[in-house]
Amino acid sequence: MAFENILFEKDGSIATVTINRPKALNALNADTLKELDQVFTELAADDTVSAVILTGAGEKAFVAGADISFMKDLTAVEARAFAQLGQAAFNKIENLPQPVIAAINGFALGGGCELASACDIRLASESAKFGQPEVNLGVPPGFAGTQRLPRLVGKGRAKELLYTGDMIDAAEAYRIGLVNKVFATAEELQEAAKKMAKKIAGKGQIAVRVTKSAVNQGMEMDSARGMAYEAEVFGLVFSTEDQKEGMAAFLEKRKAEFKGK
Ligand code: HXC
Repeated sequence: MAFENILFEKDGSIATVTINRPKALNALNADTLKELDQVFTELAADDTVSAVILTGAGEKAFVAGADISFMKDLTAVEARAFAQLGQAAFNKIENLPQPVIAAINGFALGGGCELASACDIRLASESAKFGQPEVNLGVPPGFAGTQRLPRLVGKGRAKELLYTGDMIDAAEAYRIGLVNKVFATAEELQEAAKKMAKKIAGKGQIAVRVTKSAVNQGMEMDSARGMAYEAEVFGLVFSTEDQKEGMAAFLEKRKAEFKGK
C-alpha cells in the first residue's frame, strides 16, 4: 500500500502504520485522515495481520493534533465534516477486528491524544507528552476527545485536561491510566510494541478478536447485556478448531498451534 502521509509496513503478521509528516509534527490534515481510513479499512479485511502498531515518524511527535493551518479558515459546515472524517477514521481503528497498539513517541496532543485513545493499548516513551489543548485555540475537541478520554481516565481527570489544555508527561499519563506502560527510550518503546504485538499474534486469533469485540460492545451496553453478549461469543468459539487445539494442548502439556479457524 502506497500513501503520501503515512508509511505502511508488514513484518509477518504484524503491521505498522506510521503517520509521516514529521515537519508538521505529524499533524492530521484531511488527506492524512483519508489515508488512515483507507489503511485501516484494508487491514480489517487482511486476515494475515494479527496486530497493528500505530506510531509517528521522527523523534518529536506521535501526532501534535489536527493540522491547525488546514483548519484555520474552514467554514462551520467544513469544520463539522472534518470532525466527522476524523471520527470515522478513528472508529475504524477502535473497531478494527485486530488489536491496535499505539506507540507514543512524543507529543500526543489534541487529535493526537484522541487518535491514541482510539487504540486498544497505549505504550509511551518517557519523552511523550499528552494533552487536549483545543481550548487554547478557541475550539472543543472534534475527534471524540470528549467521549473517549472520560471513558479512559474518568470524567473528573478528563475534564481537567479538556478545560485547562494542560500538557502532562508520560509518568502522569501512566498514573491516571491514559497509558499502559512507559519506556526509557524511543527504541525500547518500539521494541516493546513489537514484542507485545507478537505476543498477541501468538494467541488464538478468533479468541482475541471476539474478546476485543466483547469489550468494545460491552462498553456501550449495560452490564447484563454485555454479559449476555460475552456468553454468546464464548459459546460460539466452541465451534472453532482453535478452541479444541487450545484446550487439548494444555492437557497434553504442549504449546498450542492456533490456526485462526
Ligand atoms: C499544524 C503544526 C501543529 C499542528 C505543530 N505544527 N503542531 N502544524 N498543526 N497541530 C508545526 C509548527 O507550526 C511548526 O511548523 C512545526 O510543526 C514544529 O512545531 P514547533 O511549534 O516549532 O515545535 P515546538 O516549539 O517544539 O512545539 C511543539 C508543540 C507545538 C508544543 C507540539 O508545536 C504546539 O503547541 N502545537 C500545536 C498543538 C495543538 O494545539 N494541537 C491541537 C490542535 S487542535 P513550522 O512550519 O513553523 O516549522 C486539534 C483538534 C482535533 O487537534 C479535532 C478536529 C476536528
